[in-house]
Amino acid sequence: MPVTHVRPRPPVLSLIGNTPLVPLYFPAENRTIYAKAEFLNPSGSIKDRLALCVIEDAEQRGLLNDDSIILECTSGNTGISLAMVGAAKGYKVCILMSDTASVERRYLMQQFGAEVRLFKATEGYGTGIKLSREMAAADSRYFLPRQFENPLNAQDHEEHTSREILSQMHGLVDAFVSGYGTGGTITGCGRTLRAANPRMKIYAMEPAEAAMLSGEMPCCHLIEGVAGGYVPPLLRSAHIDAPIKITSADAIAMTRRLNHDFGLLVGPSSGANVAAALRVAGDLGPESRVVTILCDRAERYYSTKLFQP
Ligand SMILES: Cc1ncc(COP(=O)(O)O)c(C=O)c1O
Repeated sequence: MPVTHVRPRPPVLSLIGNTPLVPLYFPAENRTIYAKAEFLNPSGSIKDRLALCVIEDAEQRGLLNDDSIILECTSGNTGISLAMVGAAKGYKVCILMSDTASVERRYLMQQFGAEVRLFKATEGYGTGIKLSREMAAADSRYFLPRQFENPLNAQDHEEHTSREILSQMHGLVDAFVSGYGTGGTITGCGRTLRAANPRMKIYAMEPAEAAMLSGEMPCCHLIEGVAGGYVPPLLRSAHIDAPIKITSADAIAMTRRLNHDFGLLVGPSSGANVAAALRVAGDLGPESRVVTILCDRAERYYSTKLFQP
């Protein structure tokens, strides 16, 4: 019989969370944006929080044992984070990923020892999710974190990320801007931030080419990690004041600005978030305190448009 137990948390996992929040002053716009540096989590993205939280919760509930394989369908960052936490805690990890996600993501997961299986992007994200459920139904060793439905995803941001923001901003936040992939970040942070200040505005950044909250059809865009082709279930309970559309070109341009002018080596969704936050701050005025998220590191985009002149 496999033995179920809670494995100790290795030191690397204590580096997750409690990320810095940096003010970024944009002279041309005369606005300051407050950016939560989630790319400083140990595997390089905000998804480390989710990976640690769901794996430790599964341990507590006796869902993981020595034979377990953590299986998730993900466009990338969650896979890297699960692979990292799996490596640190000694669990096998298998990731199902669309063949259009950047190749660096695949290499990083494999470097952590995870198995990566690709499915065709043309078959849609639903294909990967269906495949993961079929695999889990056929083999009891698989444990599915189910990031798109798991309430812990939003709950962890509600209890940690947003409380860190409130403390770092001394409770003074006028607006919060975030893209959505699973919707966990914006749903969870939004709950705590609005409870602290009901007049605070919550804005959802979405690619102009896949502006689903704006009622448009999803199409291809270059802001990896967000707007994966459908409005995620977690987002249904979110309070969102308005969506903000950012084109892929503007996202890449702002990401390069963050790279060149601020020395922040972050990826395209961070650029898109900051571009959206600047638009909000433009409306709210020079003294406004608009907070957004720097989601992940630029190194996982070497093969993409971001690094092409
Ligand atoms: C690269 C990346 N990862 C993760 C997230 C957060 O997405 P969610 O919490 O909605 O899954 C975003 C959102 O902006 C992102 O761009």
